[in-house]
Amino acid sequence: MSFQKIGVVGSGIMGSGVTEVAATTGASVLVCSRTTERADAVLVAIDQSLARQVEKGKRDVEEAAEVRRRITATTEVKDLAECDFVMETVVEDLSVKLELFATLGSVVAPTTVIATCTSTLPVIDLAMQVEHPERVCGVHFFNPVTVMALVEVVRPISASDDTIDAAIDFVRACGKEPIEVKDQAGFIVNALLFPYLNNAVRILEQGVATREGIDAAMKGGCGFPMGPFALLDLVGLDTSLAILDALYAEYADANFAPVPLLRRMVSAGQLGRKSGAGFYQYPR
Ligand SMILES: NC(=O)c1ccc[n+]([C@@H]2O[C@H](COP(=O)([O-])OP(=O)(O)OC[C@H]3O[C@@H](n4cnc5c(N)ncnc54)[C@H](O)[C@@H]3O)[C@@H](O)[C@H]2O)c1
Repeated sequence: MSFQKIGVVGSGIMGSGVTEVAATTGASVLVCSRTTERADAVLVAIDQSLARQVEKGKRDVEEAAEVRRRITATTEVKDLAECDFVMETVVEDLSVKLELFATLGSVVAPTTVIATCTSTLPVIDLAMQVEHPERVCGVHFFNPVTVMALVEVVRPISASDDTIDAAIDFVRACGKEPIEVKDQAGFIVNALLFPYLNNAVRILEQGVATREGIDAAMKGGCGFPMGPFALLDLVGLDTSLAILDALYAEYADANFAPVPLLRRMVSAGQLGRKSGAGFYQYPR
């Protein structure tokens, strides 16, 4: 089964990337944002991303224009009514996602597959907001979406095989590698990655080394492409904090308890690249 009309809700870091890769499958894609400013901004971000790919020789001009022609934007969730697949990419906050799923359930057809991009939240809780919860699953892309090969396809206990198969087909059509995973907080990657990122903040707080020193150590000593603080800034400190809170809520393991410095930085609005400042500064 291949999707013809895809809706993407949310126009942040992930919404923009998911919209772009979804359009490469040949489907038309409608991205839904809360404001016209954000909807316009996401289209500009996609234009810039496609232009970069043309510059780097990854796509030719005509192909990039064809992808872009398939993308439109709206501020009305009801405009997603005709979609046969909807991807949710809004903020990592369970109450926001629960409300959105209830709305989506009342807007789209009962056969529409609905997926969440959540990093850690229980997909089953979202599934239970809609009639026919068997058509809900997780499709967890990684950041930056256009670059990262892996997608975790999350199977809540309610999902049908048809839903999981359709999600896997979609991921492959996006040119990505799907890995099926159980609906358990953090799935594979974040369950393993976030104790490491959290402990990096802990040793920074303890004064073991500078942030530059810790980043350089993990690149040079482990062969990682970027250090923990560059990665936290890329993910977003607010999203990282929400991920750690959800992991701690699920496992009550001290490694997941967010280090106070991270929470303080989020309170100060230091969210990483998206706000212009996090562990590093990002001139705008
Ligand atoms: N950032 C990452 O590296 C990453 C990677 C994989 C998955 N995710 C997941 O993707 C989702 C989105 O993350 P992001 O990094 O794009 O976040 P972001 O902060 O860049 O974007 C969040 C989006 O949610 C919208 N939003 C905020 N509050 C809302 C509300 N009350 N109602 C409706 N929409 C609201 C914002 O307008 C924005 O469009 C989260 O579930 C996150 O866990 C993030």
